[in-house]
Amino acid sequence: MHSMFAGLGLSVPVVAAPMAGGPTTPRLVAAAAAAGGIGLVPAGYQTAEAFGRRLAEVRAPFGVNLFAPNPVPIDDASYHRYARELQGEADDYGIDLGGIARTEDDDHWRDKIDLLLADPVPAATFTFGIPDAAVLKALRAAGTLTGQSVTSAAEARQATDAGVDFLCVQGIAAGGHSATLTPDRLPADVPLAGLVREIARVTDLPLIAAGGIATADAVVEVLEAGAAAAMVGTVLLRSDESGVSETHRTALADPARDRTVLTHAFTGRPARGLANAFTDRYDEVAPLGYPALHHLTSPLRKAAAAAGDSDRLHLWAGTGYRHATAEPAAAILRRLTAKL
Ligand SMILES: Cc1cc2nc3c(=O)[nH]c(=O)nc-3n(C[C@H](O)[C@H](O)[C@H](O)COP(=O)(O)O)c2cc1C
Repeated sequence: MHSMFAGLGLSVPVVAAPMAGGPTTPRLVAAAAAAGGIGLVPAGYQTAEAFGRRLAEVRAPFGVNLFAPNPVPIDDASYHRYARELQGEADDYGIDLGGIARTEDDDHWRDKIDLLLADPVPAATFTFGIPDAAVLKALRAAGTLTGQSVTSAAEARQATDAGVDFLCVQGIAAGGHSATLTPDRLPADVPLAGLVREIARVTDLPLIAAGGIATADAVVEVLEAGAAAAMVGTVLLRSDESGVSETHRTALADPARDRTVLTHAFTGRPARGLANAFTDRYDEVAPLGYPALHHLTSPLRKAAAAAGDSDRLHLWAGTGYRHATAEPAAAILRRLTAKL
């Protein structure tokens, strides 16, 4: 075990990925700790106050994860054109997409950093963007280890130069949003172990590997490639402790949902999910634009989730989703580390 992660309390090198929007619950984070690993509590899509309340509910050692600002702005004309294209989907729910103002916010970034400085946590990871040096320095001074999600050797160099303590190497097979710093250019389609090896050549920082890991053999493979730990998200989505919507949970086990796609149709940033009618119809025509498109489609996606309509909802999933089982998360994590 790498000393940095042993210091965080890990006895097995496994991390429960942060999954914003519901899946990661305080119980899921506690289950990761019970299995000898650690869970990361996502800060995304909520206010700093709500995030603070969430953290207070976690009864186990944990880290946190934030969306660092790296906006992909969209112009008004493209935004409204896409809103008009999607209106037919929203009509069934009585939602007027044209009435949703274009919102370019930063997910309450500064307030969340202030919260973490006032009440420090052992570790914080970042995705989408790299925090500026002053923020990283302040977190370090507060005793927090910082980790950056990267998807290429170039991003690994950038994050190393910025002064983070470790890297989360995210492969193209990962479920949910890609951590890419350049959403207009997708990361190369290379196997995770190869990406870990490539990144280990350009940085001395400890690496956590993530993306499509769903079996004990896959865990062994990334550790042999040089990762200090393996991080999993999708395999936990159907676990007893997951807070994923019932619609999403059911879709993950539906034999008819037979492939994943990397799409920016839901949020304006590339993310991997199960293919459905929405991705089939809009993947080609959707503009980039984050977070504006996230806010535009959010009410439609919430309504679809509540109605059991899995064709108008983002069904985030990595390529290993067939291995996502309905059982206690600690049992899933123990199986994943059984060959170590
Ligand atoms: C439903 C879902 C939500 C996610 N939310 C976040 C998030 O809030 N922050 C983040 O850094 N990564 C997020 N991710 C990506 C994970 O951190 C991780 O890279 C990914 O789950 C690993 O690939 P896997 O899903 O194939 O195991 C999410 C992934 C999923 C499946």
